[in-house]
Amino acid sequence: MALGVAASGSVSGQARAADAVPNATVLDHPRVGYLSHCGGCHGIEGYSGNTFVPTLRNAVGAFACTDEGREYLIRVPGVSMSLIRDDQELADIMNFVMLQLAGTSLPKGFHPYTAVEIHEWRQHPLSVPDFMTHRGQVLERSLAACARATDK
Ligand code: HEC
Repeated sequence: MALGVAASGSVSGQARAADAVPNATVLDHPRVGYLSHCGGCHGIEGYSGNTFVPTLRNAVGAFACTDEGREYLIRVPGVSMSLIRDDQELADIMNFVMLQLAGTSLPKGFHPYTAVEIHEWRQHPLSVPDFMTHRGQVLERSLAACARATDK
């Protein structure tokens, strides 16, 4: 009898494992691309922890209130110089980053990146003498624009 209980327990365990298979489709193409090309540095959920790699989760959207900031996010070397050479694929990954990871930081009315924008901007990888200062200024201007947009 005890054996029967154990056996049925294991059957329901298997049922749960089988249920998990449809969930695997949640791993859509952009997510897989993010995991394999970006997640190693930025973290699978966009948290890079206490490193020099910027946290994307609930943060990266703060750049997207200006065209300059939208462009910045594509021109950073990790994106513009990515081994992903297909512009649409990279656009899909960046839209995954914005729509799935940017969370509370995503501005209302965010326009998804297009392959044309990616194609144009990635040809100019950021190369500035003081990257962190430049980043800070881009962020400051975008945050000011985000604030103006919410004031309206
Ligand atoms: C080798 C580690 C590494 C990989 C791989 C990588 N990044 Fe980055 N990423 C960084 C670092 C470090 C920065 C900060 C800028 C710099 O120093 O290049 C950054 C900056 C960024 C930024 C700007 C965020 C901010 O707050 O300034 C975005 C957006 C971004 N990465 C997205 C991606 C995406 C999307 C991928 C995959 C296509 C990717 N990164 C791959 C390390 C990485």
